[in-house]
Amino acid sequence: MTQRYALLFRLIHWAMALIVLTMLAFGQKFAGEMPVAERQFSLMGHSSLGVLLVGLLSLRLIMRLTGMAKRPEHSIAPWQKLASRTVQTGLYALMVLLPITGFLTARVHELPVTPFGLFSISTSDPATFEAIRDWHMLGTKLLMVLLVLHIGAALMHRFVLRDGVMGSMSLFRPKS
Ligand code: HEM
Repeated sequence: MTQRYALLFRLIHWAMALIVLTMLAFGQKFAGEMPVAERQFSLMGHSSLGVLLVGLLSLRLIMRLTGMAKRPEHSIAPWQKLASRTVQTGLYALMVLLPITGFLTARVHELPVTPFGLFSISTSDPATFEAIRDWHMLGTKLLMVLLVLHIGAALMHRFVLRDGVMGSMSLFRPKS
């Protein structure tokens, strides 16, 4: 019986978690006023992390779909299994949808959006910017809800149930 995910898969999971939380935290700044130069710099950081995230997600999906990262088996209640599968499917869906809506928002942004400072992907279309940005924003709100459920469940497994579920994704602790 597999008790833990493959090491590479666990590293990808925590790297993605760090990137997503950073993007959510710093992304909040976009809603307010900020000097043009600062917004442009933030957009460069935001889009670069987005590209990195897409790369990691691709690797993660390949590992998942080819069986390189088998799901550890745990004896948990059927409702917990259903709840975790539902939340995880939602998280995967948003990991695909957010970069797409983010890219489309960047595409119509009036400022240059330059991932890694390489070249601008924006064509400036202020008429459609707000509408597309609203979809991206809605995705981030949904993501926050699912992350609260996901992290809450992980903490419950670790500190209340102590059933090894958290340990299967942990980098440091072999069990629990
Ligand atoms: C999981 C991936 C992503 C997360 C969590 C995320 C998060 C956010 C957040 C929290 C905001 C601010 C929304 C608000 O004002 O309430 C935002 C705005 C934005 N994001 Fe993303 N984003 C992601 C991916 C991307 C990608 C891949 C791109 C582009 C390549 C992108 C481009 C943008 C742009 C252009 C804005 C609007 C900036 C502005 O208002 O000036 N995002 N994102």
